[in-house]
Amino acid sequence: MEPCSLACLGAVLGSIVLAAGTEARWATFSQPGWQSGQKPGEDTQISVILALRQRNLAFLEERAQRVSDPSSPEYGQYLSHSEVSALAGPSEEAVMVVKDFLDGASGGHYRFSKAHDFAIFYCSITCTERLFSTTLLLQHGPQSPPVSRIRAATPISLPISVSSVLDGISLNAPILMPRRPKPFVLTPFLYPASGRLAPRIDPLLVAGDGFLMLRFVAYCANGEVNRDRLEQGVCSSSGERPTRIVSFEILVVQEPSVQKVVSMPAVPLVLGQRAGNCGQQVGCVEFNATLGSILNYMTTRVVIRAFFNDGSVTDFSNPTEVRPVWPLPYTTPDFLSRHYNMPLNMPVQHPRNAISVAEFLGQYYNPADLETFFRVMGIQSWPQTAQPWTLGPDVPQTGSVLGGEAQLDLQYIMAMAANVSTWFWSVPGKELATTQEPFLQWLFEVADHNETTAPLVHSVSYIDDEESVPVWFQRRVDVEFMKLALRGVSVLVASGDDGASGYRIRHGNTQFCNRARPGFPASSPWVTSVGGTQLSNVASPVCGYTSDSMVVNCREEGEVACSSDRGGLITTGGGFSNTFPMPWYQREAVGKYLRQADSPLPAAEDPWQFNRSGRAYPDISAVANNYLIWMGDGLESTAGTSASTPLIAAMVAHWNELRLQRGEPQLGFLNPLLYTLAKAHPDAFNDVIIGDNRCGISECCERGFGAARGWDATTGIGSPKFDKVTELLRLRVPSAGVASLSSCMAATPRPAPWPVWMGAVILAGVTTMGCAFVVKTRRRGNAGTHALHKGLLERT
Ligand SMILES: *[C@@H]1O[C@H](CO)[C@@H](O)[C@H](O)[C@H]1NC(C)=O
Ligand SMILES: *[C@@H]1O[C@H](CO)[C@@H](O)[C@H](O)[C@H]1NC(C)=O
Ligand SMILES: *[C@@H]1O[C@H](CO)[C@@H](O)[C@H](O)[C@H]1NC(C)=O
Ligand SMILES: *[C@@H]1O[C@H](CO)[C@@H](O)[C@H](O)[C@H]1NC(C)=O
Repeated sequence: MEPCSLACLGAVLGSIVLAAGTEARWATFSQPGWQSGQKPGEDTQISVILALRQRNLAFLEERAQRVSDPSSPEYGQYLSHSEVSALAGPSEEAVMVVKDFLDGASGGHYRFSKAHDFAIFYCSITCTERLFSTTLLLQHGPQSPPVSRIRAATPISLPISVSSVLDGISLNAPILMPRRPKPFVLTPFLYPASGRLAPRIDPLLVAGDGFLMLRFVAYCANGEVNRDRLEQGVCSSSGERPTRIVSFEILVVQEPSVQKVVSMPAVPLVLGQRAGNCGQQVGCVEFNATLGSILNYMTTRVVIRAFFNDGSVTDFSNPTEVRPVWPLPYTTPDFLSRHYNMPLNMPVQHPRNAISVAEFLGQYYNPADLETFFRVMGIQSWPQTAQPWTLGPDVPQTGSVLGGEAQLDLQYIMAMAANVSTWFWSVPGKELATTQEPFLQWLFEVADHNETTAPLVHSVSYIDDEESVPVWFQRRVDVEFMKLALRGVSVLVASGDDGASGYRIRHGNTQFCNRARPGFPASSPWVTSVGGTQLSNVASPVCGYTSDSMVVNCREEGEVACSSDRGGLITTGGGFSNTFPMPWYQREAVGKYLRQADSPLPAAEDPWQFNRSGRAYPDISAVANNYLIWMGDGLESTAGTSASTPLIAAMVAHWNELRLQRGEPQLGFLNPLLYTLAKAHPDAFNDVIIGDNRCGISECCERGFGAARGWDATTGIGSPKFDKVTELLRLRVPSAGVASLSSCMAATPRPAPWPVWMGAVILAGVTTMGCAFVVKTRRRGNAGTHALHKGLLERT
């Protein structure tokens, strides 16, 4: 509907109020896992974000394509904040309609974003219910610690003049949450008090880099659990004439072809001990052992038996009593630096080179932990950038957690991009108590920062199943990302940790294995979606080959799709959007995947459906598991595409640095460049060809997507070889430069098309030297900008 002119406004506003409640975007809030609870207090203040409908979006989208396409003459010619606002912003009439509507509320206040594309309205529950003709209830979700939000429990009704100038409002918007697995906690296992002879191993083994830890209790000859400590003699108090246990034998089986037998005398020198949990009033003793020299990467199982002093021996324990584990190296900044050939402690310097991590829901970080992490990991820092600049709160709030998410994001971004200016963009902002929709709120805040202040890269680790996010919300968020692409901002989004079937299969809900469930915002065509890999020594099919006469063991380690059934703890998200069609930059790469035979896709008639025409993700990947982070009083290991995302963000900061130092624009929206590079220079990426994403965090489904040569729906184009990609970016030369050095000197900082370089790297390499030098001497300082940049930020 055309926005109404001013003349007709009064007429519409004065006329009958038409219910807009039948449209999906005005529907009652509903989201799997969330239930309505009680009524919030009438005087509770809440905020409502109104997303105004914008203009010229098709035109802007075309423009966004050109400024991010390396083969376009307009590549890198980003628009300013005010240019985007002027083009996309709603009409004055639309703004008037919303103003009049909000002025009609019985109380409250509101403000618009600079571009008038969002409004935020604050009022009491009663006032809000009346204005939006709905009923508000508290909603309780699967969040830990519990968070409740206020949402519309009946459809929203608005005058048609108002609903027609809005995309939607936050009262029924989805609640996006971090999807990280809970930290690994060793809960005491309840051992049977009697009825067996073989020792019992706690099913939860701990596996690390080349070692295993196990805990077990022993059973005596009479079938009772052992209550004696090692110094007393194991089983020395069992019965009249006790038979004591003198040693244990542990057999470690690592598939396919490694066995290791460890004999452990029952003495305090080799075993640890503490009180075990064998039921009430049974004071059993639990032993623990650490086994070293274990091979990494292999599926590892453990059994144990006991030797008595009369020469008798028990059976081995049942191998199925213990979950298999996969010993793996730990991921540290040093490891990542070696694995990806990324410089550590090489400071980025350009004052515009800033990165932001978005954190929602009261996640906060601890500055002391960050310092300790740097010290423990041998990372250098510089006073100006040693701590992030905080937007919004970073203080323990009621209901907030010392954020594993926030700590992970910050520790790795700041370690891998030394001296980068980091924004800790924490939402909800000042209005913690009332902010109901952190994601829209974040977009509102991001939209209000212009190019003098805005970070060039955003790292976002929040996701939900696309199907539980209303379509209007997805489209609006996608448009905001497109506007950021126009402005030359890179948005990196984690592809999710629940494989192809999504979050809902968690907790044994394998009925949701019935089809692919893409995740949002990973499925937005205007973000770079980052998947997860893990290291393996079976990174190509031949490595796992076994036959009657041969076992092929590979020594080299490589990346495979991260999956919980190979010890990855999470499974890389990936798939095809049901909302967004496949964008231009990936059609060729994804088309090949749809036709390949390495890992054939479920047939069209297979009941497990996925959308062949949808936006396919992830775009790129990196190692996502076994990250060591400093949490409070020690190191913890964690996994997630929320680890690989900040890592890629740090790489982008280095790449942006290279360009900014030469007076060139930053990389902006990355995907067209990434797919172009992967096609022209496949050797600049680690192509991941083993693994799949049919599992989730613990459950596995039958179907998922498989890794394959080239792009695939588990790891995208693979992980970047940082040094190779850097070299390609360094060799890039303005097409003018190829012609002659003088035209090179005259070249503006605006970049020229890239295809010349794509084909003629050697020629370009020679010419670039001159160009790079010339451009460098032309570089202008930006100190003033930087001061402004800092002055605007608040520290809490
Ligand atoms: C047993 O576990 C404790 C911690 O619970 C640890 O300090 C000790 O080193 C372990 N002992 C062995 C032999 O693994
Ligand atoms: C760190 O970055 C700032 C700009 O943010 C720059 O002024 C400073 O020189 C850099 N420090 C080092 C050691 O390169
Ligand atoms: C960017 O925003 C800041 C603060 O709002 C303002 O001072 C500055 O003039 C703006 N710059 C441009 C180019 O609009
Ligand atoms: C598949 O994706 C397209 C967008 O590319 C969408 O229009 C269509 O509805 C989707 N199909 C299903 C079954 O969801």
